[in-house]
Amino acid sequence: MLTSLADLPLKKQAGERVTVLTAYDYPTARLLDEAGIDLLLVGDSLGMVVLGLPDTTGVTLDMMLHHTAAVRRGVKRVPVISDLPFHTYDTPDQALANARRLIQAGADAVKLEGGVPFIPQVRSIIQAGIPFVGHIGMLPQSVVEEGGYKKKGKTPAQAEQLIADALALDAAGACAIVLESMVPDVATEITRQVKATTIGIGAGSGTDAQVLVTPDLIGSFPWFRPPFAKARADVASEIQRAVKEWMTEVTAKTAS
Ligand code: KIV
Repeated sequence: MLTSLADLPLKKQAGERVTVLTAYDYPTARLLDEAGIDLLLVGDSLGMVVLGLPDTTGVTLDMMLHHTAAVRRGVKRVPVISDLPFHTYDTPDQALANARRLIQAGADAVKLEGGVPFIPQVRSIIQAGIPFVGHIGMLPQSVVEEGGYKKKGKTPAQAEQLIADALALDAAGACAIVLESMVPDVATEITRQVKATTIGIGAGSGTDAQVLVTPDLIGSFPWFRPPFAKARADVASEIQRAVKEWMTEVTAKTAS
């Protein structure tokens, strides 16, 4: 069980897998912390699974600050990573100013999407002493620009680019790198080459850590679940069952 991001390299050296889940609110954060999860991510996936937006591009910094603060109130031990949302890190100065706001709201580390082109932003965050997590592969904030969610690393050129991105983030000092929706062999190779902890999602089992969007794992967002995410509970049905049972009891009393 992790208590500090500083322990990530020890876990990697020992070959111990790390578990990461998303949280967006106080009760979920508290339950996951008490369950022993290693890391929590206040992901901008909150746009879809909490706020009903079509993708992550409508998520604002204010939304992330609000949810990061709620998650912070719920945790005693587990380190919290928060996402810098779309267009909040266009320049190194903007990235640093917004990363500082997420840290003030309660994050222990910040994450942004992108590789080589974003190294100036990454350096500005890390040089200010803020722990940083990279994110490469399929980038949800680029979904509109790219015309959909597409698996990465299928061609040799794409694989080379992903490895170059990962090495650049590693050299800049990222403590971890999310590898999203990429060919498993590429994710395994990146994991072998970098010092940072790789956190896979839809990238096979060869990464140092695995992350899931919690509503996918617990079945609380039944309208969409990515094929690689196995639901291990059916919270949506359980909510509806409890609600219907209570409605039946209330309406039966009204009638008598
Ligand atoms: O926003 C998010 O939940 C994420 C994960 C999918 C890694 O970035």
